[in-house]
Amino acid sequence: MEELQVETTQGETYPVAIGDHCSEGFPAFWNRISGSSKAVVVIDERVKSLHGDSITHMLSLCDLEILYEHQVPSGEASKGWEHLRDIIDGALNHGLLRNTPVIVIGGGVTGDLGGFAASCLMRGVPLIHIPTTLLAMVDSSIGGKTAINHTRGKNLVGAFYQPQGVWMDTQWLKTLEKRDWVNGMSEILKYGYIADRKVFDQVADLSLQEIRQQPDTMIDLIRQSVRIKAEIVNQDTKEKGLRAVLNFGHTFGHAMEALGDYGDLAHGEAVYAGMIAALEASNIRGARFEVQKLLSFKDWYDIRINHFKDRIDELIALMKQDKKSTENGIRLVLVHDWARPYVAVTDEGVIRTSFQRLFEHLS
Ligand SMILES: NC(=O)c1ccc[n+]([C@@H]2O[C@H](COP(=O)([O-])OP(=O)(O)OC[C@H]3O[C@@H](n4cnc5c(N)ncnc54)[C@H](O)[C@@H]3O)[C@@H](O)[C@H]2O)c1
Repeated sequence: MEELQVETTQGETYPVAIGDHCSEGFPAFWNRISGSSKAVVVIDERVKSLHGDSITHMLSLCDLEILYEHQVPSGEASKGWEHLRDIIDGALNHGLLRNTPVIVIGGGVTGDLGGFAASCLMRGVPLIHIPTTLLAMVDSSIGGKTAINHTRGKNLVGAFYQPQGVWMDTQWLKTLEKRDWVNGMSEILKYGYIADRKVFDQVADLSLQEIRQQPDTMIDLIRQSVRIKAEIVNQDTKEKGLRAVLNFGHTFGHAMEALGDYGDLAHGEAVYAGMIAALEASNIRGARFEVQKLLSFKDWYDIRINHFKDRIDELIALMKQDKKSTENGIRLVLVHDWARPYVAVTDEGVIRTSFQRLFEHLS
């Protein structure tokens, strides 16, 4: 069992515990971060069906009375008003008090939804994240962003709200679908480019199968990812500047996700393809990356983007709508070199060429 302290700009810290088959350690962790004898649970429905027994056992070790449990069906559609209202109604109708923690168990959808509910209830009750997808472990459970979606767009209603603690047990990752694995792996590769080349090299030395089967490797990669994300958000909790570098590959990726109506590409596949385009754009602006290194992961992904080849104008139009773009043009996160990210308003010609090269690489 390893533990990191994540610091927020408000000078507060919270612990992130990472282990494999580590339920027996949960009561000590719980007593340190909360000690409450009651809680409300928000849990992903699929996680409940796959790991309900082990999670119930873990919570029972703390003698916790669960006042109310809300199950969140799989899928982005759950991150909306309906479930937010049900969580709030259920918690208030079952005796939640200002100091009653909300424990959120699942991937980024459950984390964002349950975290936002915790931030709204009584102007903020304690929040504990128990992420169960790789993406939630290396990304969404760290940094304090919570949200639901609106018909106008993703994550448009939300709050910055930090948890009291985050508990990660890699035993639960074993049941993840391959697509959900690579969602998380794309973010880990991203940390290699924007912050620490060693993380990238470590992943490059292994096959996906090896990473999935070696808990120690997995824990090490998660620990390094948490450290990198925590360092970046600590310097910029409310996303005024530096935090933008976490979007490396994402602006290109979001445009491809949107053009495929969020059905053609999984988020992690779009981010992977987006990073290839972002590297090409970085090289056009003077960097000297071997794009081949990133392309060597191509087999992990099932990326079908050939049908976007003749639709670059539409992709650029979608990038202009990105909330990070400005009146002056499309703002991209690029890299001068390993661990030297920067944000730049980027010429449309550069973006067009980067897309063309991406399509050649992945055709
Ligand atoms: N708050 C942030 O900073 C932040 C950062 C990145 C992404 N996000 C958000 O995160 C969401 C994506 O997160 P995600 O990729 O975890 O998706 P998700 O929560 O939809 O989970 C993916 C799938 O895995 C299933 N699942 C969860 N745990 C499992 C397990 N242990 N075994 C088997 N199946 C399991 C879920 O039921 C779901 O079908 C998006 O809504 C995105 O906006 C938030």
